[in-house]
Amino acid sequence: MADYVIAIDQGTTSSRAIIFDTKGSIVSTGQLEHEQIFPRAGWVEHDPQEIWRNVREVIGQALSKANLTRHDIAAIGITNQRETAVVWDKTTGEPVYNAIVWQDTRTQDIVDRLAADGGVERFKDIVGLPLATYFSGTKIVWILENVEGAREKAEAGDLLFGTTDSWVLWNLTGGVDGGVHATDVTNASRTLFMDLETLSWRDDILEVFGVPRSMLPEIRSSSEVYGTAESRSLLRETPIAGILGDQQAATFGQAAYDKGEAKNTYGTGNFIIFNTDTEIVHSKNGLLTTLGYKLGDEPAHYALEGSIAVTGSLVQWLRDNLGLISSAPEVERLAETVDDNGGAYFVPAFSGLFAPYWRSDARGALVGLTRYVNKGHIARAVLEATAFQTREVIDAVNADSGVPLTELKVDGGMIANNLLMQFQADILGVPVIRPVVAETTALGAAYAAGLAVGVWSNLDDLRANWQEDSRWEPQMDDAERERLLRNWKKAVTKTFDWEDADTK
Ligand SMILES: Nc1ncnc2c1ncn2[C@@H]1O[C@H](COP(=O)(O)OP(=O)(O)OP(=O)(O)O)[C@@H](O)[C@H]1O
Ligand SMILES: [Mg+2]
Repeated sequence: MADYVIAIDQGTTSSRAIIFDTKGSIVSTGQLEHEQIFPRAGWVEHDPQEIWRNVREVIGQALSKANLTRHDIAAIGITNQRETAVVWDKTTGEPVYNAIVWQDTRTQDIVDRLAADGGVERFKDIVGLPLATYFSGTKIVWILENVEGAREKAEAGDLLFGTTDSWVLWNLTGGVDGGVHATDVTNASRTLFMDLETLSWRDDILEVFGVPRSMLPEIRSSSEVYGTAESRSLLRETPIAGILGDQQAATFGQAAYDKGEAKNTYGTGNFIIFNTDTEIVHSKNGLLTTLGYKLGDEPAHYALEGSIAVTGSLVQWLRDNLGLISSAPEVERLAETVDDNGGAYFVPAFSGLFAPYWRSDARGALVGLTRYVNKGHIARAVLEATAFQTREVIDAVNADSGVPLTELKVDGGMIANNLLMQFQADILGVPVIRPVVAETTALGAAYAAGLAVGVWSNLDDLRANWQEDSRWEPQMDDAERERLLRNWKKAVTKTFDWEDADTK
């Protein structure tokens, strides 16, 4: 009896395949990192072929570690780094350019051009997003305008666009031999092209961007059978039955299905998602309006999202660019060598600032430096930056909802860091809670897939699986919290207005 579900988590830094049992417990994991390609300042690319090779390999790793075969797997769920744009030739299966990653800021000129008529919020009421380099739409435009022959091929109907869920789905279902070209509503809601109400592509917006509709995947729900794995795959004939963008998947894996529930994922960046149920809420405080999930024919669920571009990747930067640590967990030991930040604040505006500021002109700054500050203080400032940024986004969520959050469910790689989690609880003034299964991204995709094929019958089955592992209670006194926050906000202002004609 096939009662395991496999999730493919195609993330920004790595691809994972995780097999879950019916209790939502992890049975086995395969994982491979892929290369981060930085051709110039502000540019971030991935090789889509490397990603696809890694996905196939991690599926093999997970199956063999668990000693399972495709006959044990009821369904495949896919979750993915969102907004990262792949454009490929449907007749050869070859990408025409590397994937342009969500963090990439090269399309600022395209954003400015589109915003010249109507400002950055010109489509916000329809799509829930401001014009920004973050979303896939302008990345597609860049490829069409800068890759030789791309525009002609696209007009001829030979090119396909997809975020990495679509890229993996198309390849897994046969690629040039009948691959399924589809995405789910959560991923589609990050392009700038999908109407939040009708859940379909907007021809008028596509026309403004100059993107042919024939490139775009079909928009489907987050939980239904899209196709089956092709005959050469280790998972051949297994249905692919769930797709959710990584942040929505984590929310789904955290069982935050009801209005007012929220989670914060600490990965490459941080992403807070706040469930607004079937209501489309427009933020007054710098949050995005996005799809939460849609199960088959049921109504779509919406969410407010606070996206923070740089959190865990600042720890990677400390490791790879400065060499101050040799692994991410070491940052905690280095930070523990000092009692506080020594007056240093690190605002990692490497891709500008996302929520709640949306300042594309900002760039990173380490401020408050004196002769006293050492590398321990810098490590602490790096960790504190994640907590401060989170606090500012939670403030925006609370202001929009009118009902302050009384606790925060967390997940993602950085929550292994106790110093950070305690500081987070201190800076928020509410408890921070970690579930037993911290791999909520993969779990959410597995849940969506399992629901579609009957491994689980409804959301109550999934709620019953959620279990608390640990919690951090706030311990800091109010005056100290407020003092630190005032300093943080002052530090943020130092990053504004940096990017201009002279910095190009
Ligand atoms: N102990 C730690 N302390 C601080 N940061 C950590 C720790 N362990 C991992 N990280 C950071 O967490 C991030 C990895 O988290 P996670 O595995 O959730 O991200 P991810 O899922 O790979 O991200 P993505 O899906 O975007 O690829 C890395 O950026 C890493 O620097
Ligand atoms: Mg992830």
